[in-house]
Amino acid sequence: MSNEGRFPEGFLWGAATAAYQIEGAVHEDGRGPSIWDTFSHTPGAVVGGDTGDVAADHYHRYVEDVELMASLNLAAYRFSIAWPRIQPDGSGPVNGAGMAFYDRLVDALLARGIAPAVTLYHWDLPQALEDAGGWPARDTALRFADYAALVHGALGDRVDLWTTLNEPWCSANLGYWSGVHAPGRTEPGQSLAAMHHLLLGHGMAIDAMRAQARVEEQLSITLNLWPVLPASHSPEDAAAADLMDGFQNRVYLDPVLRGAYPQDVIAATSDLTDWEFVKPGDLDVISRPIDLLGVNYYAPLRAGGEPDAAARTSFPADRGIRRLPPEGALTEMGWEINPGAFADLLVQLHTEYGIPLVVTENGAAFPDVLESTGQVEDSQRRAYIAGHVGAVHDAITRGADVRGYFAWSLLDNFEWAEGYAKRFGIVYVDYATMARHPKSSARWFAETARRSQLQPASRDGRAAGGAR
Ligand code: FCB
Repeated sequence: MSNEGRFPEGFLWGAATAAYQIEGAVHEDGRGPSIWDTFSHTPGAVVGGDTGDVAADHYHRYVEDVELMASLNLAAYRFSIAWPRIQPDGSGPVNGAGMAFYDRLVDALLARGIAPAVTLYHWDLPQALEDAGGWPARDTALRFADYAALVHGALGDRVDLWTTLNEPWCSANLGYWSGVHAPGRTEPGQSLAAMHHLLLGHGMAIDAMRAQARVEEQLSITLNLWPVLPASHSPEDAAAADLMDGFQNRVYLDPVLRGAYPQDVIAATSDLTDWEFVKPGDLDVISRPIDLLGVNYYAPLRAGGEPDAAARTSFPADRGIRRLPPEGALTEMGWEINPGAFADLLVQLHTEYGIPLVVTENGAAFPDVLESTGQVEDSQRRAYIAGHVGAVHDAITRGADVRGYFAWSLLDNFEWAEGYAKRFGIVYVDYATMARHPKSSARWFAETARRSQLQPASRDGRAAGGAR
C-alpha cells in the first residue's frame, strides 16, 4: 500500500469535548454552580432556552462513551474538568466526590489504552468567583493556580497531557466584551483585564503543575486562532487585517510565547484601559516555557479598512476594522470552509513561534438526519474533516511540527449560546433516548486514525480534499 498521506510515527489521533457541554448532572456529588449554569438559565441568553443541565448525560454514561472511543480507534481523548465539581465555591479543599468522577474516567481511558488529555478550564468558572469580580479581578488568577495544583495533584500520576485554558479569547471577549457568552457582561475595558488575568492564571498554573510534574508530562495552552485575510492588497485593508490579527491572535500568542503584549493592540485600546492591570513580573509568569501549543481552528476571518459600527462588538469593530463576510462554502455556523488557510496558519505558527503544535479542536456543524436504520450520512462534515486533516498533513510536509489532531467533537453537545441546535459531533446523540450513533464522519475518522493515513473522503474513492 502506498505511503501517500501517511502521518509521522506517534501522531496522536483523538476527539475532544468539554465538561459543561456533555456532562449534565449539574447538581450531583456536590458540584457548585458555574457561570454557565447561571447564564444558560437566564431567559434569552441561549437559543431555545437550552441549558447544560442534562447535556449528553456523559456523567452517567462515561463507561459507554469510553467504549465508543475505543471502537473509533482513538488514541487520545481531550476533555475538561469542571472546576465547580472540584471546588464548588472556587476555592478551598477538594470536593472528593467531584474529583472521583475524573479519577474513574482517567482509569477507564487508560484501561482502554486511550491517553487522557486534560483541559483545566473550558469556560465554567465557579459562580462564586464571578460574584467576587470574575476574570477582571486579579485574585481569580490565583484561585485558578490553586485549582490547577489540586487537579494535577490528583491526576498527575496518570495524565501526561495538560492544557491550562481553552480559548481565553472566548472567555474574555465573548464573556466580558460582547456578552454573548457567560457571564454576559459588556465591558470592553474589563474584558482586557479579564484577558490578562486569564493569561496570568495560565502562567501561574504552569508553575504550579511544573513543580509537581513528571518528565513525560507536556503542559500547554489552547488558543483559538482565526487567520485574518485582508479584503485586498491595499495598505488600508492590510493594516486593518493586521490589527484584527492582533486582537484575535497575537494578543494571546505574543505574551505566552514572547513575553510581551503587541504594541499595536495596546495603542488601539488606550481609550478603553490604561493596562495598569499588568504588574511588574506578570509577563515573565505568562511566558513560562510550555511544551506544546494547542491550536483550535475552524475558519479564517476577513477584514477591511472601513470601520463598520454595525459589526458584532466582540470584534473591535470601532477600531478602524471592518469585518467582511466569509467567502465560498460555509458550515451551519456560517463559518467559511477554508483548509488552505489552516495549513498556512500551522506553517506560520511553526515559522514565527517555533513551538510544537497539537490541533486540539477542528470540526464543523451541519444539519444531521438520523435515519431509521440508525445511520447518519454526514458527508459534508466528513469532507470538512478530511479536508482539514489533509491540511495538517500538508503543513507537516511543509515543515510544521504538528503532533496530533483532535476532532471537535466526539459527541453532539450543548453548543454554548447556540444550545443543542448545532451539532458538531462525529457521533450523533439522540437527545430523546441519549443513544449514541457514530456518523459516517466517525467511521472515516476511525479508519484514518487506525492507519494514521488519510483515507478517501467520499465513497467513490475521490482523494480526501487536499489543503489547497
Ligand atoms: C470552540 C469551543 C468548543 C466548541 C467549538 C465549536 O470555540 O472551544 O467548546 O464550542 O468552538
